[in-house]
Amino acid sequence: MSDLLDYTPAVATATEELRRKMANVIPDIEWAVHAPYIAAINALKREKQAVILAHNYMTPEIFHGVADFVGDSLQLARLAAKTDAQLIIQAGVHFMAETSKVLSPDKTVLIPDMEAGCSLAASITGHDVRQLKQAHPGLPVVTYVNTSAEVKAESDVCCTSSNAVAVVEDIAREWGVDTVIMIPDEFLAQNVAKQTTIKLITWKGHCEVHERFTAEDIRGFRAAQPGVIVIAHPECPPSVVAEADFAGSTSGMIDFVAQKQPRRVVLVTECSMSDNVAVEFPKVEFVRPCNLCPHMKRITLPKILHALETMTVEVLVDPVIAARAKKSVERMLAVVPAKARQAA
Ligand code: 13P
Ligand code: SF4
Repeated sequence: MSDLLDYTPAVATATEELRRKMANVIPDIEWAVHAPYIAAINALKREKQAVILAHNYMTPEIFHGVADFVGDSLQLARLAAKTDAQLIIQAGVHFMAETSKVLSPDKTVLIPDMEAGCSLAASITGHDVRQLKQAHPGLPVVTYVNTSAEVKAESDVCCTSSNAVAVVEDIAREWGVDTVIMIPDEFLAQNVAKQTTIKLITWKGHCEVHERFTAEDIRGFRAAQPGVIVIAHPECPPSVVAEADFAGSTSGMIDFVAQKQPRRVVLVTECSMSDNVAVEFPKVEFVRPCNLCPHMKRITLPKILHALETMTVEVLVDPVIAARAKKSVERMLAVVPAKARQAA
C-alpha cells in the first residue's frame, strides 16, 4: 500500500472545490489526509481510463471525491452494463463487483478489498437454492442481488429493493403461479409481501446492519425529535418499516429527501448515507442514529489507489456460472427502467 501521501499546496489547490463541497461533513483536519489520495486517484483514473462505481454507502470522500457514478444496487448494475470503460473499480461490496463482471465479462473489474462481503450473500449457497427448488417444484426463484454469482445462476430472476414488488409480480404472471420463492432476505420478502397478493416462500438471511434497528428505536427518535421524518431501508424488520414514513432503496431514500426536503429527517440505514445526502442538502437536518456496515467500510481511498496502481484485486467469475447468472440479472433489468445518477 502507498505510504501516507503529503497534503502539498498543489494538492490543496487541485482539491479546493471538493473541500468546500464536503466542508459540512469532513473537518479540515481530516481533509488534509483524504485530499492527496483524491488527487492521486483522480489523476490515475483518467490516465487508465477507468470508472469508479460507488455505492451510496461509501464514505463521502469516496462518494463525492472520486466516484464517477453513484447509486443503489440496481443503478450500479445498469451502469456496469452500459459504461464503455474497459476498467471498472467497484467501490462497494463483493456481490456488486461480481454483478458488474457478470454483466461485462470482457471488462476488467477490480475490488479494492476482496474481503468486503455481505451477511445476506453469505447466508445462502447454490446448493441451498437447488434444494429449495426440489422442495417447491414449479415455482420461480427471485433472488436479491445481494448474493453470489453462483446463487444468481441457480435463480430465475434477480431483484433489488427498488424493484422487488414489480419483479415478483412479473415472474408470477409469466409462470402463471400465485407463489414465488424469494431469497435470501427474509425481511425484504416480508416487506414485499405486504405490497402484493403473491405468496412468498422466504429464506432466513438478514442484513446484519438493518436487522439491528427496532420499532422501539423509531418511537424513540420520534419522542426525542418531534416532527422528524423517518425513512427506512426495506432490509429492516417489517415492524421497523411499519413505523417509518417511507421505505425505499438507498436511492429511493435520496429521492425522497430531494423531493420533500424535510426540515429534519432520520435515515434508518447505514451511517454514510446521511453524510452523503447532507452534502447535497445542507438545509435538511439529519438526525444520525445509524449502523455501520463493516464490509462497506473496508473500502477506503488508500485501497482504491492501491487497486488502480497494481490492477488488483481482479474479480473473476467462472464463465459458465457467469452466463447463467447474467440471464437472471438481465431478466431483472428488463422489468423496470431505472435512472442512473452521474456523480456531481
Ligand atoms: P440498495 O440496493 O438499496 O442500494 O441496497 C444495497 C444494500 O446492500 C443495502 O444494505
Ligand atoms: Fe450486506 Fe447489509 Fe452491508 Fe448491505 S448493509 S452490504 S445488505 S451487510
